[in-house]
Amino acid sequence: MTEFVRASIPPPPAPAPLTWPTDGISYGGDYNPEQWPREVWHEDVRLMREAGVSLVSLGIFAWGTVETSDGVRDWSWLDEVVELLHGNGIAIDLATPTAAPPSWLLTAHPEIAPVLADGYREPPGGRNAWCPANPVYRHYALRHVEELASRYGRHPAVRLWHVGNELGGGNMRCYCDLSAAGFRAWLEDRYGSLDALNVAWGTAQWGHRFGTWEEIDPPRGRHGAPNPSMFLDFERYSSDALLSQYLAEKEVIERHSDAPVTTNFMVGAGAQVVDYASWAPHTAVVANDHYTLVDDPYREQELAFAGDRMRGISAGRRPWLLMEHSTGSPSWQQRNRAKDPGEIGRNALAHVARGADGVLFFQWRASRAGAEQFHSAMLPHSGTRSRIWREVVELGGHLRAIAEVAGTRVEPARAAIVVDDAAGWALGHGLKPHRGLRYGPELRAWHRALWDLQVLCDVVPRDADLEGYDLVVVPTLLVVDEDLAARLDAVPRRGGTLLVTYLSGACDERNQVIPGGFPGAFREVLGAWADEFYPLQVGERATLDDGSSVADWTERVHLDGAEAVVSYTSGSLAGGPAVTRRQVGRGAAWYVSAPLEPAAVDRVTARLLAETGIARTVEAPPGVEAVRRVGDDRSYLFLLNHTGDEHTVAATGTELLTGTDVEPRVTLPPGTVRVVRER
Ligand code: GAL
Repeated sequence: MTEFVRASIPPPPAPAPLTWPTDGISYGGDYNPEQWPREVWHEDVRLMREAGVSLVSLGIFAWGTVETSDGVRDWSWLDEVVELLHGNGIAIDLATPTAAPPSWLLTAHPEIAPVLADGYREPPGGRNAWCPANPVYRHYALRHVEELASRYGRHPAVRLWHVGNELGGGNMRCYCDLSAAGFRAWLEDRYGSLDALNVAWGTAQWGHRFGTWEEIDPPRGRHGAPNPSMFLDFERYSSDALLSQYLAEKEVIERHSDAPVTTNFMVGAGAQVVDYASWAPHTAVVANDHYTLVDDPYREQELAFAGDRMRGISAGRRPWLLMEHSTGSPSWQQRNRAKDPGEIGRNALAHVARGADGVLFFQWRASRAGAEQFHSAMLPHSGTRSRIWREVVELGGHLRAIAEVAGTRVEPARAAIVVDDAAGWALGHGLKPHRGLRYGPELRAWHRALWDLQVLCDVVPRDADLEGYDLVVVPTLLVVDEDLAARLDAVPRRGGTLLVTYLSGACDERNQVIPGGFPGAFREVLGAWADEFYPLQVGERATLDDGSSVADWTERVHLDGAEAVVSYTSGSLAGGPAVTRRQVGRGAAWYVSAPLEPAAVDRVTARLLAETGIARTVEAPPGVEAVRRVGDDRSYLFLLNHTGDEHTVAATGTELLTGTDVEPRVTLPPGTVRVVRER
């Protein structure tokens, strides 16, 4: 077992029909009965029924409580819990508990723990404390999965499989010698020859040419300036290495069970720990863990972004599942504040509005002990007399009231934002012109403007079909391959509108600069190009002739067929274009060379909507969220009022949460959600 594990990824299977784990919209959470004595389990299921829980994720961290020492297993408690849930009509999303190896295994084989870039090996005590290239870990993990799947694979309560937990959360990168060997093998598959690799990585710089594969190591150490091409490939390798663990477990499960297999992603705004877009086709249903950040004033918009991104990666294989979110304070943020009254339901139903057919929480019952003892739960420490419990029960009722929405789709969007983790990884790393820029803020800036106007927008990965979109926004997509560049180039040429922001298309997929002026991949279609970057210093701002100003980033832009829409008015760029537009037949191509203020983004967005004719879902003030889900012969308008004021919105039909008919407008008291089956 000294050979490393290869991260070669087979092509994904053709999408198969999916049997959803429950009727209606699934409701529940992570269930960790192993933390509680038996008597509590009976109270648990009674209260689950009271709340309307229909699906629980079971056994996620239960490896050590089942396999108590090497090969010695006590299934009795799990057998009992499975029967108890089944007897109470609660479906099980059964987890392979491979996220947290048992302590006996970590003690016998400390070498399975991941090694950080500086050579430090993680000691036991955390989670996901394993290296995906380690064959000892793989052996023990698959041995346990085999036992688990053969025991419960045909049990009627097991309706879904949950592989590991948040793969990559805690062990995204391992720099050990086995990972190094795995990386080399992955590179050989990708490049075929060292000559090709040396060209792709530009190793002539600093004399880093590799003469043998053995000379290549992961980007270890603290010098902070590894070759950017090597860095990006190591990120890709690491994502594939983790995916190979998921696939190995899935292969074992599928020998014993016909239930669908998935794993919980961590999709939000910005670069993710692994490339979920490439993982998604290997899951029967895409599932997400989403936690709002207490200190984010626009956390509802970030949630919407994540929902739209989930839809983007589950294209054609809808619906998706919200595997985890919270009823209140998490415990891993700096200041873990409770949610505001009504926020639990608004958050949950916002995910449903954007395509989730299930909302689950971490976790069912709050833990008294352990690292997460102060994390919120469906049943909090204060029990059933708490506000959380009342809202959890109310949400269960609301999900039953809208059960008929299950199986419908979010109506097709006409706008899309293109995201790619490779761009995010590349942007946040190495000797960049501005080392503080991150992938995320610019994505959200454009999504926020559309969200405020109730315009639905898909957040799509690099290989998405862009044909159906009238507006395609490409924020800070630093790295772009030829195929994607060509598909984006086609958008204005077929009459659509393309908007590209600074730093997009500067590098090819090898992370090498595309020569000839920025943004290399899009220069021609934009009719504008930049020859120099002017990152602004801390506290510095540049003014624009629309009355706004920008921080952080500006560029010297030249027109080559485009016209200036907004220009710089200060500094050495004064008089030069900041925002440009080129008419391309019936289409248009926009370039935005700086991170605009929200009001300036709004002005550009208003023009984009006017020129594409994209309509708002409803006319309502910012902070009122509106999304429509459609079925063959019906449609549902989700309206979420995130503001402190009452609003009314045009809608005619039956409001399902209150059971009342509305016409021609529905009233949204502050903080409420309404779901109208439209007439
Ligand atoms: C998730 C994790 C859960 C729990 C939760 C707390 O990332 O999957 O097991 O730790 O965070 O917010």
